[in-house]
Amino acid sequence: MVFFLASIKTVGLTKKFKDLTAVDSVDLEIKSSELFGLLGPNGAGKTTFISMLSTTLLPTTGSATLNGFDVVREADKVRSSIGIVFQDPSLDTRLTAEENLYLHGMFYGMSAEERKERIKFVLELVDLWEKRKLEVRTFSGGMKRRLELARGLMHKPKVLFLDEPTLGLDPQTRQHIWKYIKRLNRKEKLTVILTTHYLEEADFLCDRVAIIDFGKIVALDTPSNLKKNIRGDVICLKSSDDKALKEALSKKLKREIAVTEDDGELCFNGSSEDLPGIVRVADKSKIKLYSMELHKPTLEDVFLHFTGRNIRESLLGKSDQGTAYLRDFQRIVR
Ligand SMILES: Nc1ncnc2c1ncn2[C@@H]1O[C@H](COP(=O)(O)OP(=O)(O)OP(=O)(O)O)[C@@H](O)[C@H]1O
Ligand SMILES: [Mg+2]
Repeated sequence: MVFFLASIKTVGLTKKFKDLTAVDSVDLEIKSSELFGLLGPNGAGKTTFISMLSTTLLPTTGSATLNGFDVVREADKVRSSIGIVFQDPSLDTRLTAEENLYLHGMFYGMSAEERKERIKFVLELVDLWEKRKLEVRTFSGGMKRRLELARGLMHKPKVLFLDEPTLGLDPQTRQHIWKYIKRLNRKEKLTVILTTHYLEEADFLCDRVAIIDFGKIVALDTPSNLKKNIRGDVICLKSSDDKALKEALSKKLKREIAVTEDDGELCFNGSSEDLPGIVRVADKSKIKLYSMELHKPTLEDVFLHFTGRNIRESLLGKSDQGTAYLRDFQRIVR
């Protein structure tokens, strides 16, 4: 039998804002040293969920422990066990990289000696040691994100929360950040909980992924198992009249058909054997087929399957709650 130490455990964890249930009775266990991803569309409850775990928001009902400590009754102990990197930059840009980290270490009561040693370690980890004397205002977006990662690690947390760590970064910088996240997960045996809109990020980085929608976890597994559970291949169609084609195909194939909202594709499970029938249905209904694609399921298809929406929509209308939470958090720590 394999035993593991649960780093995080939630039981019926719920957050209500008036009559809106942002997080709805979530039961979840995250193992120690696990790299865990939370995927979900805008407003799904990801930030609210990690804000309760990181003690910046009180649960309405239910409970959660982190590293064995209760997030409400033992909030101080939880805070000293965690690091947070939220999506919006919250560095002091007039200070140097080194000064930002030095101050952070001070808030956490680290001695001058400890801080010096740790600054070197974390800056080397994210390849910024050479830039330590530069003011942060001269840094690129990617360098700032790396420095925020370093800051999140300064006080040797057991658990690191990353709220959309690579949003808005170019693909090359994103891959660098992935490398650092993997490296510190292995090197420091750190439990990492990240939220992301990038499915390839979750696929590449995470040991397990939870898909969250309307505050509930609708799927939870390793990325490869999630993909395997979508039986068969995926067929995606573009046509001159998606609505009519959807209706006609639903009747003919007796299958759930999802519509990707950004480019209006119809997607559903199927195999190459379905293709001639689809052409016949379109022909009979006088609908023009512009494209027909058959592919192996990706995490994108898993997401669509469980939420009925395309993840790309979720990139629109970002909230800036992350910065506010981080500010609250720093105020509490101080
Ligand atoms: N302080 C608040 N007061 C009222 N409603 C809130 C508050 N914070 C979040 N909400 C609502 O709770 C729901 C979940 O929000 P949350 O920020 O957790 O979603 P998210 O999954 O992080 O979304 P995004 O992908 O946009 O970051 C949303 O409907 C949001 O409007
Ligand atoms: Mg969020």
